[in-house]
Amino acid sequence: MSLSLAQMRRNYTLFGLQDEQALDDPLEMFELWLQQARATEQAPVEANSMTLSTVDSEGRPHARMLLLKGVSDEGFTFFGNYQSDKGQQLAANPHAAMTFFWPGLERQVRVEGQVSKLDPALSDAYFNSRSVSSRLGAWASPQSRPLASRATLDSLLADITKRFVDEPVVRPEHWGGYCLHPERVEFWQGRADRLHDRIDYRLHDGHWRRNRLAP
Ligand SMILES: Cc1cc2nc3c(=O)[nH]c(=O)nc-3n(C[C@H](O)[C@H](O)[C@H](O)COP(=O)(O)O)c2cc1C
Repeated sequence: MSLSLAQMRRNYTLFGLQDEQALDDPLEMFELWLQQARATEQAPVEANSMTLSTVDSEGRPHARMLLLKGVSDEGFTFFGNYQSDKGQQLAANPHAAMTFFWPGLERQVRVEGQVSKLDPALSDAYFNSRSVSSRLGAWASPQSRPLASRATLDSLLADITKRFVDEPVVRPEHWGGYCLHPERVEFWQGRADRLHDRIDYRLHDGHWRRNRLAP
């Protein structure tokens, strides 16, 4: 059987995005779409999963899935290892992009801006809300570094578990949150015959301006 990728396509007909449906504030608009995605997306899709794209010091792009852990007027929050590849890329170049895809709603959101580390107290609060096993995992895993085998990771975890046997598992300095401060947010709604709706918000002098873009 030959499965032709070129012939795989879906016509998007669920919704439209009229100009009058676009809110003035893209962060409010994002929260509305996220709420709708949470109500619609079926497991195994997590409505708060997204692709984070970063650029290294040589200008090469890198992308991976992450979970969004918060959105506010400040921006979009996520967590990970500060010494990981993404951590090093963000330290070298704070410009990053997030892409959300909600297939159940035929929607995509793109967010672009600069990333800064979260206030340590906020990282502590989130870290402490995680299960003890996740917290031990953050200590044990040298994220993005080569491991000789799975057994090496198991042994790193066993060592860390022993170390914390009588102590609270506090946040390691190499693990914490980031906030992407948006400068551009684009809402894409699939429409029939590839004539999709795109509403693009850009930040100018602290104010959001929006435009419709050609699909
Ligand atoms: C659905 C999904 C959610 C993920 N969420 C996170 C996350 O919130 N934080 C994180 O550090 N890695 C997360 N990962 C793992 C990352 O994709 C990636 O493997 C890891 O962050 C290392 O990336 P890096 O080597 O580019 O730094 C997730 C993976 C998937 C598939």
